[in-house]
Amino acid sequence: MKKGFKSFALLMVVLLLTALVAACGKGDSKVSVGIVLPTKDETRWIQDEERFKDALKGSKYTTEILFSQGSSAKEKENVETLINRGIKVLIICPQDGDAAAAAVEKAKAEGIKVISYDRLITKTDAVDYYVTFDSVSVGAAQAQYLVDNAKGNGQPLYLYAGSASDNNAFLFFQGAWSVLQPKIVDGTFKIANSSEAEALKDTKELSRDQMSKIIGQVTTNWDPNEAKNKAQTHLTAASADMKGDVAILAPNDATARSIADVFATDSAVSSYVVTGQDAEKASIQYIIDGKQSMTVFKDVRTLVKDAMGMAVDILENKDPQTTGSYDNGKIEVKAKQTNVIVVNKDNVKEKLIDSAYYAAGDFTGL
Ligand code: BGC
Repeated sequence: MKKGFKSFALLMVVLLLTALVAACGKGDSKVSVGIVLPTKDETRWIQDEERFKDALKGSKYTTEILFSQGSSAKEKENVETLINRGIKVLIICPQDGDAAAAAVEKAKAEGIKVISYDRLITKTDAVDYYVTFDSVSVGAAQAQYLVDNAKGNGQPLYLYAGSASDNNAFLFFQGAWSVLQPKIVDGTFKIANSSEAEALKDTKELSRDQMSKIIGQVTTNWDPNEAKNKAQTHLTAASADMKGDVAILAPNDATARSIADVFATDSAVSSYVVTGQDAEKASIQYIIDGKQSMTVFKDVRTLVKDAMGMAVDILENKDPQTTGSYDNGKIEVKAKQTNVIVVNKDNVKEKLIDSAYYAAGDFTGL
């Protein structure tokens, strides 16, 4: 009898503990907004993490930021972890736009609202909102810089692109092509490193498939090492008339620096103009030093503010404000878009230091 009571009591304790553990796992640790960013290996996303942390100071809502380290499997795991923490809103920048669909579909099935952050999640209806910079205008601004700084006629043009698994890489290229293509046709530029682009040079508006062909040839995969290797291969293969004063479309700062380093060491390249984007600190120093020509400054503070603003609206049952929409291959996703700023040596101090984005002490030679 006594023994029976003891095991009954033990059973009750075990049941109670199990219930407690389950409650902690689901919902009760009170994270309201989950944030998933692609990787810590690219400075761009560390910028976003820092700006999220700044924006969240003093917020009454709890948040958690997880990184996917360049892996869609890890990204899905992160989303599952956040679902188990009871989030109501998920802000996610996908590693791979198509692959992230499965992860956000799980969130949607739990009634969680999904905000695609900076990069669009594609081919799924499980995305509620998209906050982004005007990525087409990023590419157009890069190309316009090359056009404005072109030297004479028949200047060699080297094209590089982002990763084909990132929808933004297409938007950037689309914007760049819209400005470069007429200048290829009129002879200002001659394409140095892409037979696919050369074959399509008379096509003003490229289809997604046509862009895929070019991007497939000149992708950096957003990886500075891959960018460096490609630039080396291209310069080794280039004939003398593809050297001299050259123009280089580099998709972002990290790849721009490594491509610039390669072009700087080729004695047959007398000068180069190279684009970038993100206003990474290392590239700001390169611009001050005259090693990178420009960057496109995307004020991450605004993107973070917009994403958190939307999340809070959702938590408070209000309808978030949007300014347009993006086709993700399955639905039109309601979007809020932010403008970008072109930065070069002439305005770098005004746009990045005087605006308090960076401290002057972070740079030399300002
Ligand atoms: C972002 C860029 C970034 C790139 C590589 C793109 O989706 O918009 O800012 O440089 O990914 O991380």
